[in-house]
Amino acid sequence: MNVQQPIRTMSEFRDAMYAFRLPRILATALDLDVFTKMGARWWTPKALAKTLNSHERGVEILLRNLETAGLLNKRGTSYGVGQLGQTFLNKKSPDYQGAYLGLLHHQWENWGKLTDTVRTGKPVGNDGPDDPDDRRSFTWAMHQRSLPHAKQVAAQFNLKNIGSLLDVGGGPGTYALELLKKNPKLQARVWDREAALEVAQTIAKPLRHGKRLSYYAGDLLKSEVPGKFDVMWLSNVLHIFSPSENNILFRKLKRALNPGGRILIQDTFLMDKPGFDTAETNLFAVTMLLYTPTGNTYSAKDVQQWLQACGLKKTKCLHMKKGTGDWDGVIIEGKAS
Ligand SMILES: C[S@@+](CC[C@H](N)C(=O)[O-])C[C@H]1O[C@@H](n2cnc3c(N)ncnc32)[C@H](O)[C@@H]1O
Repeated sequence: MNVQQPIRTMSEFRDAMYAFRLPRILATALDLDVFTKMGARWWTPKALAKTLNSHERGVEILLRNLETAGLLNKRGTSYGVGQLGQTFLNKKSPDYQGAYLGLLHHQWENWGKLTDTVRTGKPVGNDGPDDPDDRRSFTWAMHQRSLPHAKQVAAQFNLKNIGSLLDVGGGPGTYALELLKKNPKLQARVWDREAALEVAQTIAKPLRHGKRLSYYAGDLLKSEVPGKFDVMWLSNVLHIFSPSENNILFRKLKRALNPGGRILIQDTFLMDKPGFDTAETNLFAVTMLLYTPTGNTYSAKDVQQWLQACGLKKTKCLHMKKGTGDWDGVIIEGKAS
């Protein structure tokens, strides 16, 4: 999705600045838990205002805007929730994406502190060594976010003759698990923080292929790699670290690769080839500025050079089928000889 159009006129500038309105309306709908409270019933603003313990005028204007956004339907003077609101946005639905919604929703306040962060270079949020409860919620959010992408990636990767995979910063183990499901001979290990691994274990426990997943609690920059592997899979990890930290990590991973093994990196990469969505990659760098001390987004060319500098001479960009995989569907491969 193209998230940003070039701004050339004053009216385009105004539209861009004013684009905060819809996200704010969505955040208020989540604050008030509108979709759960409405459920499958039809509501007049007056009746809903009573249920939400809110002002009728405020609720009427909110509902009107949620209808314009396509989230509600209108019948006479009543409103009903559409498909998305009845599933992913409703706490009572098995498809509820609460952890991921929470992650999106709670960024609102931190984005409001961006000016301070640009001045100081210091993050306002925390993605560092952290509170275990926050880490668990974040890890569930990652699972909800990554599951559809992981299924698409696993369907396109042939790991049939591969014995071992390390899911580096694998969090909930979403990718490792989908790859294990697709490749019955594969064994995988997730390397992440303790609290993240608790979530991974909960997800893996009821799954048959989850028995082939093991866990390694440790810091990606400080701990040793737990053994030798055929594939090192890094999804959404590169952007957490600075170039020099990524170099430290890549060198460690390269030393722990079996002969002919591969490092595979999935992330949002800056435009150095047509078709990359630079706007999203640049915006995501802001998230890293707000939440990490050194994170950023990088060009695919730079990442390939880093891999080559640590001894993986054969590098290339793999492209997932259009519209599949995470971000633009680009995965960088570095292969050991
Ligand atoms: C953005 S999440 C990506 C999770 C997963 N790979 C995915 O794509 O869904 C980044 C993961 O890296 C882990 N992580 C970040 N810094 C770390 C560090 N220094 N040591 C261990 N894990 C770390 C986080 O706990 C988190 O699970």
